[in-house]
Amino acid sequence: MAKRTLNLALATGVLALGISTAGSAGGIASASMLANTCTGCHGRDGNSLGPASPSIAQMEKTAFIEAMQAFKSGKTYGTIMDRIAKGYTDEEIERMADYFAARRFVPAKQEFDATKAGKGARLHDKYCEKCHENGGRPITGEDAEYYLLAGQWLPYLENTIADFRAGRREIPKKMKKKLDKLIKKEGEAGLAAINAFYADQR
Ligand code: HEC
Ligand code: HEC
Repeated sequence: MAKRTLNLALATGVLALGISTAGSAGGIASASMLANTCTGCHGRDGNSLGPASPSIAQMEKTAFIEAMQAFKSGKTYGTIMDRIAKGYTDEEIERMADYFAARRFVPAKQEFDATKAGKGARLHDKYCEKCHENGGRPITGEDAEYYLLAGQWLPYLENTIADFRAGRREIPKKMKKKLDKLIKKEGEAGLAAINAFYADQR
């Protein structure tokens, strides 16, 4: 078994070498070289040191590509990502998507009001879980298209929701319905409780 693992590791190493050689010969930057330019804000391996830059480690590939393309086209408002995304081709975006999807997400270490997390869990189940499954954690499977909410930086989540509500980012119709209902019934405190629940998912 140990020998097989070693052989596999060797084979993978050779394969990786082959790819990177082919890449540099063609003048194509490797995924990790591309991703290096994101480190300053999104941290090593996509785990951001916060608070306004989201962690993007283990972000699902389709969601990553969609987010980058929406920044690139100006469909999604960004304080900075709209300009950054314009610097990358579709192929480079896809390669970075694969790279970050394969990193391991580490929940943010941050202060939050833990007394609200219990209420937030109930409200998340009622208003958000249908789409943001498994408490907003990374999920696997066929159509696991997700954004990271559990363990994400709170200031980032707050900014993003504010962008949705102010129309700076297009909000999915059904999400808007749930969010409106939540605010109507539970007020801003309801939303704060849900965010505390996400921060509590460590
Ligand atoms: C100067 C800081 C900075 C750099 C550099 C940067 N980002 Fe960002 N990124 C942000 C911020 C801040 C946001 C939130 C949107 C905004 O305000 O622009 C964000 C959002 C994102 C998102 C959306 C995540 C989500 O959950 O919706 C993705 C994907 C992303 N960045 C990928 C990248 C990639 C890939 C690179 C490198 C090519 C990169 N970023 C470089 C600051 C940065
Ligand atoms: C009907 C499905 C649905 C429901 C219900 C829903 N969402 Fe979403 N949510 C989405 C989709 C789809 C996106 C990605 C939107 C996009 O492409 O910009 C999203 C994106 C988000 C984001 C941005 C993540 C990021 O990093 O870019 C946050 C935050 C969020 N939702 C919070 C919530 C909260 C809180 C609730 C419950 C009150 C909720 N959502 C309910 C479908 C839903």
